[in-house]
Amino acid sequence: MVKTAPRSLISLKNFTESQIFSIIETALENKKNNSKVFHTNLRGTGALLFFEASTRTRFSFQTACVRAGVSPLIMDGADGTSLAKGESIEDTIFNLEAMRPLFFVIRCPNSVDLAAISSQLKVPIINAGWGIQGHPTQALLDVATMFESWKDLRGKKILFVGDIKHSRVFTSHQELSKILGYSIGYCAPAEFSVPKTLDIQSHSSLEQGLDWADAIVTLRVQKERHSEGLSLATNYNDKYGLNIERTKLLKPSGLILHPGPINYGVEIDSDVLKDPRSVVMTMVENGVFVREAVIHKMMFGEL
Ligand code: CP
Repeated sequence: MVKTAPRSLISLKNFTESQIFSIIETALENKKNNSKVFHTNLRGTGALLFFEASTRTRFSFQTACVRAGVSPLIMDGADGTSLAKGESIEDTIFNLEAMRPLFFVIRCPNSVDLAAISSQLKVPIINAGWGIQGHPTQALLDVATMFESWKDLRGKKILFVGDIKHSRVFTSHQELSKILGYSIGYCAPAEFSVPKTLDIQSHSSLEQGLDWADAIVTLRVQKERHSEGLSLATNYNDKYGLNIERTKLLKPSGLILHPGPINYGVEIDSDVLKDPRSVVMTMVENGVFVREAVIHKMMFGEL
């Protein structure tokens, strides 16, 4: 396995429970105190390189940088850069490193070996969504949002529904659930499923899954990652879509999450977002606090 550079956040695998708690507690404390927890102004730049599309993660990191006193350098796809002239993603990163940013935030496809690149850099990388290999800050903001409601996640059951196979969010929760002690289960059509393993509970129907779960994470159907010929079943929403009728099966203390962007009427109906158990917009709000906490802890060697 390639050794990553110190302090990078490529996956959550090697983090301890106390490190994760520290990120979450700091983020929620900062939210409660209206962004006044940090008294340091990090001077320098953060290179935010998005080689794949993003709204939430990109603007969230940009906001977190500004709040932390870091000037973000933003790459939003190939347009206007030398990627359009054929320069590789790897060369782009190494050239940006020569400009001495404090850190990188990188979203990239599977074809890029982010861990190998990290091992060649002198500054840390935060994975902002790497193919289907992980999206650690999304999983962190998901659990921060659940902590806000429940105060503890140990023993809680989180149901993931839909396109599990192409979900980097699900990959990161597989890592994080082992550290924090929550259970994950899934409900998915065969073409979006993962190989059955002992520690992941599979549910044959959404109704059965909702009966089991404390929280449901509806996942976006990721058409851009589907191989040719894989088409969405016409009755997908009938079987796997979260609608008002089905929310009645979720516990009153349950939570409804979606990492976004949403395909309304496919994985979730728009009126479900009005349910008081929906924390979809709170997740977006919390994402900035979590990312600001990650940046601070990384810069001060506390990760
Ligand atoms: N949840 C998430 O990563 O959203 P974006 O793709 O908009 O960043």
